[in-house]
Amino acid sequence: MIEHKNILEDDFGRNHTYLRISLTEKCNLRCTYCMPINGVPLTPKSNLMTSTEVFEIAKIFADSGVNKIRLTGGEPLLRKDFPEIVKHLSKLNVKIALTSNAVLIDRYIDDLKQYGINDINISLDTLATDKFLHIAKRDQFKKVYDNLILLVKEGFKVKVNVVLIKGFNENEIVDFIKLTKDLPISIRFIEFMPFDGNKWEKDKMISYQEVMEFVEQGFDKNVIERIEDAKNDTAKNYQIKGYQGSFGVISSVTNPFCDSCNRIRLTADGKLKNCLFSSTETDLLTQFREGKSITPIIQKVIRQKHKMRGGMDSLEKLENPDLHQQNRSMITIGG
Ligand code: 5AD
Ligand code: SF4
Repeated sequence: MIEHKNILEDDFGRNHTYLRISLTEKCNLRCTYCMPINGVPLTPKSNLMTSTEVFEIAKIFADSGVNKIRLTGGEPLLRKDFPEIVKHLSKLNVKIALTSNAVLIDRYIDDLKQYGINDINISLDTLATDKFLHIAKRDQFKKVYDNLILLVKEGFKVKVNVVLIKGFNENEIVDFIKLTKDLPISIRFIEFMPFDGNKWEKDKMISYQEVMEFVEQGFDKNVIERIEDAKNDTAKNYQIKGYQGSFGVISSVTNPFCDSCNRIRLTADGKLKNCLFSSTETDLLTQFREGKSITPIIQKVIRQKHKMRGGMDSLEKLENPDLHQQNRSMITIGG
């Protein structure tokens, strides 16, 4: 029998202290790699966690040892009660972070500051207006870019997620890195991952190795410095000598970081997923609404966690549509 330190520890000794909560399945963009072309059936509002339920469930996790919560979506800022949610959550002894597409973020600067949310990841896959419209299906490049600059000016710690898709944006890798010359941001190039309905093909992916080849074509070898990764960081990080910001590569496909995974995910409809790639999920919300204790369920879900990528422990398994299509689409998981 394996001795577990607490309910958040799994059979591989990983301690799940980082909870990601999706607040909504809705989004005001339609990024092709995330949102299936025909959209997703929307969960009735009554099946989604209310702001009070978000808080009460988050509190159970915090009391069990979770020390960081990231709010995701869809687009979390579409929740009208976002300020109320963060107000409640700020009472917990956890660090709160946000992932947003940044379209609406200028309206929430004061709330973010007031409730101590300093760590913000935004999605931006191209620096060209027409390409933004192509990938996100909405003409919002300027808004997102201006909001990125605003966040930096307001002193937030900003990471920019760039999903790389072959033939679409690999020619912008160097331009993205050049942004870090004067902006103290971290660009994170993400290998395109397969989810239900996102038309993933291995050949559309730009691997970690390929990213570094582009970097070496764009910069002199002796100015590219490997920098230390934060604990449980999913990216391998680099900096161009003298630049204010940094960049990294998140290689979930070619080089997964499951060994140090400390994440667990709660979907907007209150289902717990022990891995981004898991095909199964467990309903916490119904049990919670029935007044049952959810800690035994949390413990069980964590103990069931596979060693790697929800059991898709080889590229062949990940490539198999029968396997990755058993999972939700990304829009309903929340990254
Ligand atoms: N592959 C890789 N990253 C993805 N994201 C969404 N869908 C995918 C995918 N198919 C990332 C986006 C977003 C974050 C929440 O998840 O970059 O910023
Ligand atoms: Fe919306 Fe983010 Fe998905 Fe794009 S990646 S559709 S911005 S949730």
